[in-house]
Amino acid sequence: MLTGNEVRSKFIKFFESKNHKHFESASLIPDDPTLLLTVAGMVPFKPFFLGQKPAPTPRVTTFQKCIRTNDLENVGRTARHHTFFEMLGNFSFGDYFKKEAISWSYEFITEVLGIEEEKLWVSVFDTDDEAEELWISECNFPKEKIVRLGEDDNWWAAGPTGSCGPCSEIYVDLGVEFGGDENSRLGDQGTDDRFIEIWNLVFTEWNRMEDGSLEPLPKKNIDTGAGLERITAVLQNKANNFETDLLFPIVQAMEKIAGVKYGESGKIDFSLKVIADHARAVTFLVNDGVIPSNEGRGYVLRRILRRAIRHGRLLGVKELFLFEIIDVIVELMKGSYPELEKNIKHIKKVVKIEEEKFSNTLDQGIQHVMNAIEEAKKSKKDYLSGDITFKLYDTYGFPYELTEEICEENEIKIYKNEFDKKMEEQRNKARNSREVIMEKGQDSFIESFFDNYGKTEFTGYTSLSEIAKILHVSKIKDETYMIITDKTPFYAEAGGQQADNGIISGNGSTGNVIDVQKQKGIYIHTVKVLNGIYNFVEGIEVRMEVAINRREAMAKNHSATHLLQKALREILGDHVQQAGSLVTPERLRFDFNHYEPVTDEELEKVERLVNTQIAKGLSSTVEYMSMDEAKGTGAMALFGDKYEDVVRVVSFGEYSTELCGGIHVKNVSEIGMFKIVSETGIAAGVRRIEAQTGFKAYETVKSMEKLIDKVSKTLKTTSSKLEEKVEKTVEELKNSQKEIEELKSKLASYEANSLFTEVQEIKGIKVLVKRFENKDGGSLREIVDKAKEKLGSCVVVLGADNGKAIFAVGVTKDLISKIKAGDLVKQLAVIAGGNGGGRPDFAQAGGKDGAKVKEALNKAKDILVESL
Ligand code: ALA
Repeated sequence: MLTGNEVRSKFIKFFESKNHKHFESASLIPDDPTLLLTVAGMVPFKPFFLGQKPAPTPRVTTFQKCIRTNDLENVGRTARHHTFFEMLGNFSFGDYFKKEAISWSYEFITEVLGIEEEKLWVSVFDTDDEAEELWISECNFPKEKIVRLGEDDNWWAAGPTGSCGPCSEIYVDLGVEFGGDENSRLGDQGTDDRFIEIWNLVFTEWNRMEDGSLEPLPKKNIDTGAGLERITAVLQNKANNFETDLLFPIVQAMEKIAGVKYGESGKIDFSLKVIADHARAVTFLVNDGVIPSNEGRGYVLRRILRRAIRHGRLLGVKELFLFEIIDVIVELMKGSYPELEKNIKHIKKVVKIEEEKFSNTLDQGIQHVMNAIEEAKKSKKDYLSGDITFKLYDTYGFPYELTEEICEENEIKIYKNEFDKKMEEQRNKARNSREVIMEKGQDSFIESFFDNYGKTEFTGYTSLSEIAKILHVSKIKDETYMIITDKTPFYAEAGGQQADNGIISGNGSTGNVIDVQKQKGIYIHTVKVLNGIYNFVEGIEVRMEVAINRREAMAKNHSATHLLQKALREILGDHVQQAGSLVTPERLRFDFNHYEPVTDEELEKVERLVNTQIAKGLSSTVEYMSMDEAKGTGAMALFGDKYEDVVRVVSFGEYSTELCGGIHVKNVSEIGMFKIVSETGIAAGVRRIEAQTGFKAYETVKSMEKLIDKVSKTLKTTSSKLEEKVEKTVEELKNSQKEIEELKSKLASYEANSLFTEVQEIKGIKVLVKRFENKDGGSLREIVDKAKEKLGSCVVVLGADNGKAIFAVGVTKDLISKIKAGDLVKQLAVIAGGNGGGRPDFAQAGGKDGAKVKEALNKAKDILVESL
């Protein structure tokens, strides 16, 4: 029987023997802004199908790691759903077509894998006579076992637009025990578990356009995909993929951790399968640089990871487990994916951190959901309202999908649209509470303005002043106006860089430009008029001048941000991705994905690296190019951002290349100096660095120097001897403290001795009741101990008035049957407005009112007279 690993390598060898070149499995993060994840073997080859790039070789074969999350809830419930799976594929870029694709797939299945011909069925697209004929003529396939299926089943596309085509699928009939009867045919109702699709051959010859129409591709192509897990299950005679040697070792590892047995119950199997599948997805996503977050791929990862952890809980596992399973996965898969072994430490760390974080909220969250379900059941409802599901999410941070799943398990309905409505309401609230300078109707105003005048011409990349014509003025409040001109040198806030400020003047008026925002390419200046004269009217010409110092300071900080991002990637690794950025004249702030605090050593390396680039004096270049060309240069870009057809690419020498619309220095030497001022965590897996450049950086360093000087003077030394001096001072302080402690202890014994004169006897028992001023609890305790030591059998009641009241009571063991220190101290504390208690032989308590200590101690004597 073939192992899963053997199936994988036999497939590749087979197609290599048919002159295919084997390409490595591509990253799960596709080089394609229209796709979140690699969902099929063909994803890395999309540009070759579309004819956007010439294919490096006409025939390719791969085993490709893939992730699909559209059926996440089904994973674990069925025999064959996965998030992570491997797709075996052969591809032709304008080379061979249907005939070879069909006959080779048949040859591989029957001759290499040895699956009996009688078990096979195939489907072809409704109108694809050619494919049917080829199955018959090339493979001698029985016509009655070829089924025609429509677009839902036999048309394949990676997305709503792009390359696509009809397909032909190959199925294995597992037999009548999996559904139907002797006469059942592929496609009959109730036979989904019986006829298992193992291979999809796509005849990719169409390009779906934005408007939905199809255009023929320049060449006819082949894209095939065979699910490795499915084929392996068929070959190993397993009823489901999880029992194959590709996945079962993970199930077994989890059995051990949870102390359960696969096959014991449906529920246990469900959870074991979920964990086996999800642990693979998590391992591979993190391996490819994804970090858990609330957006995009990070969110996909987070959802999968959290679902796995929850199923761990369902199996009764309370401690962290997922990160342990990763070892098993790496061991299983490293032969085909050697990078796993290299990254294992990183993967485990990321998973462990998220696991820890989520475990803490999970138990509470589940409890809240269960309470809500119970409430609903009590009041005979079979659903939870949107108010409740939203509260679970918003107040307790519990993921909606988990609420959904738990409700389903308990047969309680919830409605996504209600939840979405609440979410939208909250968003609106947030929006409305923001200060909105622009009046309502802004959007329609911008639309009609755009129709009349088009975009504002931005000249600020090359000039700092401009003569421009005012196209629109409206009042915002008091002396503040919104002004739009035909062109402007003012940079509008974008990409984290704040807007330029400056002056606008003309027609006898002058105004301060205090903000600039951009909508649909229209630059909207907020202008505060100076000296009360307001003559800005539509149609006049004005002079617009950008405040140069602010602009230059921001340019330095923005360019430094690019150098910083690159340096972080070099020092910390390629997983570093921008998560946010702010560029102001004073400082720069850069948020990025990283799973642990950056160490001082790493920070120093990063800072040095940036300063080294500055010292090299790299000059900047700005180029405009298509998105594809930009990608070819390896430019860093933010996935999820919308980019125009033509993008602006900013480079500093060979060191850094980024897509960016911001303002930059001409040469990095202008930055002068780069100083990191802080590094903090702002969310799980997201760190923030704040830094300064140029003169600001110098000033920060200078103020540190001044601080050192000041401290040196206070310590009567010089900065070069400061370290030594501080060490010495700390040592001296330590010695002095020790001495003080010794003296205190001596004083306590002295005081205790002198107290004996005050010892009374009540019914023959030695009693010491005494009030102090300004003694702390520790000192009272010491006196109690000393007194007990000296007096032998006794009761000691001490009180101190420090503004507040403190009491300490000691009773030797032989007397605690008569009076207990804890009881007595409690009564005293109550008198002084407090509370307390303690052991029978020693107790301490306090109260608010120090003036009551006297009264309390008198009461203590009364109590003792009564009790002893
Ligand atoms: N791209 C095709 C699929 O994913 C082969 O099914």
